[in-house]
Amino acid sequence: MGAHQQLIAINDDLNQFHLTNRYVSMILGVVEGKLVNLYTGAAVPYRDDFGYLVDDAFRVQATTAGEHSEHCIEQLRQEFPEYGRGDFRGPAVTILQSNGSRITDFRYAGYRATNGKPELEGLPSTYAGESKADKSDEASGTAAIDDAAETLSIDLRDDLTGLTATLNYAIFRDEPVIARSVRLTNGGSEPVIIERLASCNLDLPDSDYTMTEFVGAWARERTPRTQPLHPGVQSVASMWGASSPYFSPNAIFARPDTNEDQGEAFGLAFVYSGNFDLHAEVDAYDTTRLQLGINPEGFSWRLAPGESFQSPEALLGYSAHGLNALSHTFHHIVLDHLTNPRWARRERPILINNWEATYFDFTEDKLLELARLAKQAGVELFVLDDGWFGRGKHARVNDRAGLGDWIVNPDRLPEGIAGIAENINAIGLKFGLWFEPEMINRASDLYEAHPDWVIATLGRDSAVYRHQYVLNFANPDVVDHIYATMHAVLSSANVAYVKWDMNRFITEAYDATRSAEHQGELFHRYILGVYALYRRLLAAFPDLLIEGCASGGSRFDMGILAYSPQIWASDDTDAVERLSIQYGTSAFFPVSAMGAHVSITPNHQTGRSESLAMRGAVAMFGTFGYEMDLTRLGEGELAEIAQQIAFFRKYAPLLHNGDLYRLRAPYDHRQAAWMTVSSDRRHAIVGDYVVLGVPNRPKSRVRLRGLDEDALYRVTSLSRLEIPDDDDDEVDSIAGATPGDAGTVRGSIPDGVAVVRSGGELMHIGIDDTNIGPDFAARIYLVDRLDEE
Ligand code: DGJ
Repeated sequence: MGAHQQLIAINDDLNQFHLTNRYVSMILGVVEGKLVNLYTGAAVPYRDDFGYLVDDAFRVQATTAGEHSEHCIEQLRQEFPEYGRGDFRGPAVTILQSNGSRITDFRYAGYRATNGKPELEGLPSTYAGESKADKSDEASGTAAIDDAAETLSIDLRDDLTGLTATLNYAIFRDEPVIARSVRLTNGGSEPVIIERLASCNLDLPDSDYTMTEFVGAWARERTPRTQPLHPGVQSVASMWGASSPYFSPNAIFARPDTNEDQGEAFGLAFVYSGNFDLHAEVDAYDTTRLQLGINPEGFSWRLAPGESFQSPEALLGYSAHGLNALSHTFHHIVLDHLTNPRWARRERPILINNWEATYFDFTEDKLLELARLAKQAGVELFVLDDGWFGRGKHARVNDRAGLGDWIVNPDRLPEGIAGIAENINAIGLKFGLWFEPEMINRASDLYEAHPDWVIATLGRDSAVYRHQYVLNFANPDVVDHIYATMHAVLSSANVAYVKWDMNRFITEAYDATRSAEHQGELFHRYILGVYALYRRLLAAFPDLLIEGCASGGSRFDMGILAYSPQIWASDDTDAVERLSIQYGTSAFFPVSAMGAHVSITPNHQTGRSESLAMRGAVAMFGTFGYEMDLTRLGEGELAEIAQQIAFFRKYAPLLHNGDLYRLRAPYDHRQAAWMTVSSDRRHAIVGDYVVLGVPNRPKSRVRLRGLDEDALYRVTSLSRLEIPDDDDDEVDSIAGATPGDAGTVRGSIPDGVAVVRSGGELMHIGIDDTNIGPDFAARIYLVDRLDEE
């Protein structure tokens, strides 16, 4: 055996590589020059030679290693399959060469194994940081930075073109996740055109999987849809120029009997916000090829001699214990290895946003009135949404004008942004501001000065969405200008938070600053420009909290999350709809990533009326805030909001940093439930919801997860978000309670009453929730280990 990192074992003689931690193994080998995947799944022990895993049954198919080759190219589980060499499934790479050929032959050329995980140039990516083991071992003083991952880089070379593909595999020490990306370098003498480059190709030996995609549209984003794999291609993709609300750049591939609690599953997630393609292809021999990368449709990239192209990162996660465990894995990766560490596990400010309170119709007095009431209730941050900018005939008083002119409208805010920020600060709130940096109205000073900065195809009309157009962020001059104008606003005032919106997709894609052969680069260059602006703003204002948004949740992906620790999950603020949206989003994204607000009733999107208690109990499984006109509420409702805020502030660390378990899916519109559990299993908080009540309802119990079987827990039942008195008199049968002594409460636990139950009872028998309320009702259970008290 040769080099041996802790997580990567390498047999130099056989060119075999085994990436493994305690949870997952990926074994790679080289067969007749091709890099192949010998196994990916649950961790297996090291062995010197895994060569027996190479399929050598010979079928009448192409070989690429000469007449005496023992292997068919279509049978090898290739890591980097190419176009046109006898493997007729979708290739991971297609290169157009100057003679018109698309044939390449990438062969193994060497490797490097390193500690840590390098950044990807220009792109968001996961970072290594310190492993959990070393964090808990701080006393020894030996904690090494960057020890939470190790990276294997394998070079594959195509001799004829001089191209090298470097396949990067970073395995995390504490999570069953391998981060993958590819870097193509042109070491030849001719330019080439990259037409397709998958970030991850994974060939699996059978096809006994379901694919769960996350689908939707505006106001109903990310609903899971599960179907068995079948021969042919099953795919989700985006051509919108953003990850989109229609399909998400993440999917789950699970064994058919896998459920939330048990069974095997792979998760694939793209750390990218532009056009993507994620698909599974099942061939005639029931093998499966999973691919995730930039959508090849509409993409090409000219690579001149000496240049490199870096693909975005794809995360491959594995679970041997069901879908909740797979979600925990991705949540930990997001919080500990992707989110800006300044915010990752830090408490987020409870905010009020004026959008649904005023839309475009506000004065500074109105905003300050709203802020004063919000402050009285305990809100911490006031966010001024759309409508504060543009001047004169370009004033943003509706959605027809002003985008692009990031300069305050003095008719609305006479003392400028500095003035309103000071006034809000004087009330005792932080101040936040809305921008839509990538967009422009034709009715704007910016358009009058730079009509050529809009993405448009010369000689053709441009599609219009919401009276606006997209700025060409592939042009660095545009990004420089927007950066300068945003920087001027943000440095002129005390702005703690920015809401970065994006309300239309890219059409007539054409980059007027580049020649014909570079036109396929626009979509990717555009999103690189977006990321560059994020990075520059965060470098200039490191403490700024930027919340991502795109007509609600139209760009909710791990790329944006690398810069925006939270993303507005949907413009649909109806609590019932939010149960579905947040439930689906939680498959890959933690609670603290999901922007969620309590809004007015009847709800503006659905017209439905729901109790304040229900609205609060759903929004608290998100970043939590308010988006309603508090001046229209009575004293009772304002008092309840103050209680909700105090409640959320107390339980936010548990809600945001605990592990989320999905208990009951909301998609039958009857009931839903989820819970978060602290990592030491001592505390949990459960949200249990009735969507539509059922007459003469059958008995119903919600079974909890993640607790210690033998420990005793006090379970406090609440019908609204109100911190309970810690008065032992209200606890039913705590004294001398044993797992067999469940107390006298029969049926559902009444509001405000606490009982004692063992973890085993709570997980296997469950809590009776037959009678917790009529339509649109919520029950919260606070679950605390008794030895805590
Ligand atoms: C769409 C966003 O999703 C809303 O929250 C709001 O900011 C509007 N844009 C403002 O135009």
